[in-house]
Amino acid sequence: MALRPLDSFFFILSLFLLFTSPSDLESATQFCSAGRDYGGVSSTRILIKGGTVVNAHHQQLADVYVEDGIIIAVQPNIKVGDEVTVLDATGKFVMPGGIDPHTHLAMEFMGTETIDDFFSGQAAALAGGTTMHIDFVIPVNGNLVAGFEAYENKSRNSCMDYGFHVAITKWDEGVSRDMEKLVKEKGINSFKFFLAYKGSLMVTDDLLLEGLKRCKSLGALAMVHAENGDAVFEGQKRMIELGITGPEGHALSRPPVLEGEATARAIRLARFVNTPLYVVHVMSVDAMDEIAKARKSGQKVIGEPVVSGLILDDHWLWDPDFTIASKYVMSPPIRPVGHGKALQDALSTGILQLVGTDHCTFNSTQKALGLDDFRKIPNGVNGLEERMHLIWDTMVGSGQISATDFVRITSTECARIFNIYPRKGAILAGSDADIIILNPNSSYVISSKSHHSRSDTNVYEGRKGKGKVEVTIAGGRIVWENEELKVVPGSGKYVEMPPFSYLFDGIEKSDANYLSSLRAPVKRVRTEAT
Ligand code: URP
Ligand code: ZN
Ligand code: ZN
Repeated sequence: MALRPLDSFFFILSLFLLFTSPSDLESATQFCSAGRDYGGVSSTRILIKGGTVVNAHHQQLADVYVEDGIIIAVQPNIKVGDEVTVLDATGKFVMPGGIDPHTHLAMEFMGTETIDDFFSGQAAALAGGTTMHIDFVIPVNGNLVAGFEAYENKSRNSCMDYGFHVAITKWDEGVSRDMEKLVKEKGINSFKFFLAYKGSLMVTDDLLLEGLKRCKSLGALAMVHAENGDAVFEGQKRMIELGITGPEGHALSRPPVLEGEATARAIRLARFVNTPLYVVHVMSVDAMDEIAKARKSGQKVIGEPVVSGLILDDHWLWDPDFTIASKYVMSPPIRPVGHGKALQDALSTGILQLVGTDHCTFNSTQKALGLDDFRKIPNGVNGLEERMHLIWDTMVGSGQISATDFVRITSTECARIFNIYPRKGAILAGSDADIIILNPNSSYVISSKSHHSRSDTNVYEGRKGKGKVEVTIAGGRIVWENEELKVVPGSGKYVEMPPFSYLFDGIEKSDANYLSSLRAPVKRVRTEAT
């Protein structure tokens, strides 16, 4: 089997480490200290001592040594010289930085633009222990390359690593060609299809089918926002006719059955095409059940719940204060009590695979665009800064999942699905030095007064929790320590994501099996008509 470039790198590094004793490490690292420059800040050498190092499948007491943005060694009792910054992690967890698969920074949407741009959104992320995110490029008048270039510009002030998915909003030869260009030349390996937002982003089934076929041929992952947009439109009309114009009308107009229907439809079409499918922001039991059924039958379907759907319930939408109620408006809607816990259970048993945020923030002035009509409230909630803390507190703190599970659902699985593991999503020699130190005994209170998002509201306002990210290291630099951010605009890197992730393994064989099962075309002998 041929080694891919990344594999060869890890192989050579393992050989180096195998024949190098801990004390040799000190002298060996002396002469590879050229020091890369990250946007004006020199890289540093860091030793994290005495913590519990957690990966998705294993945890151990070990030290972690970092140099030039890369993890050099993970082993007990690493000895280093004076020039190395030493962080004491005794009694704490040392884990891969979070990777958020679903964000919308500087996104133009519903007549306004999200209040967090690439700098403020990423600063918030780093303060909460997330060191990479994947944002959605929205095409410009349907043009993918123009959309990609616009997002290249938007992301110039980045202070952490990021990648892109690209949305498909129309279909023609140019779109099909651009998909290939983006995959082969620009590091894109996923495309999103909105089955909702009729009249703006929504696509029809014929477009989805074309898109699924193209994704399959390129080795790109098809993603869906699964709600029946036609029925949502009808539900909205119904609410307005009933005189329900406030935020509660948002939830009432798009019930779980419409999410279940669209999820089932997308799953069946992906099965028909025989290509993997990723369902974003799974918010209801209805959608989750469809994913569970498909996975049980062997179909490659990934389900991504988001932190708001796991933690919150819809009672907020009935709050008499519009500013409070409107901040919870997102799509699919936050559901009644019971859905969130069921989604948590599905995550803990592997029915759902990873957690995103769908961070898409609008401040209270922007939300007030829909004061008289819930259809005009910009859809979206915060979560980039809160995701890691809330998942740890709710799921690890309650004993529902282990620390290794936590790493899997907040980081490693995302890296695997988008084909950047083990560069990202792992604390291994050779991986990028994106690391967090979490103190399980430290507490926090979430508030818009102290968060790092630019929004004046927070959907988790006043929420208390335990298990705090005390240090974030991104690209080998300490960017969050002692409650202080040290971030540099322009220091974040665009991460190219190669096509044909593990989800595509076996597809050729199952296609061949399908073809050989057809017993067709049947050769028929034409007889002369008598
Ligand atoms: O309400 C949401 N989810 N806003 C962001 C756009 C989307 O549907 O992902
Ligand atoms: Zn969506
Ligand atoms: Zn989204």
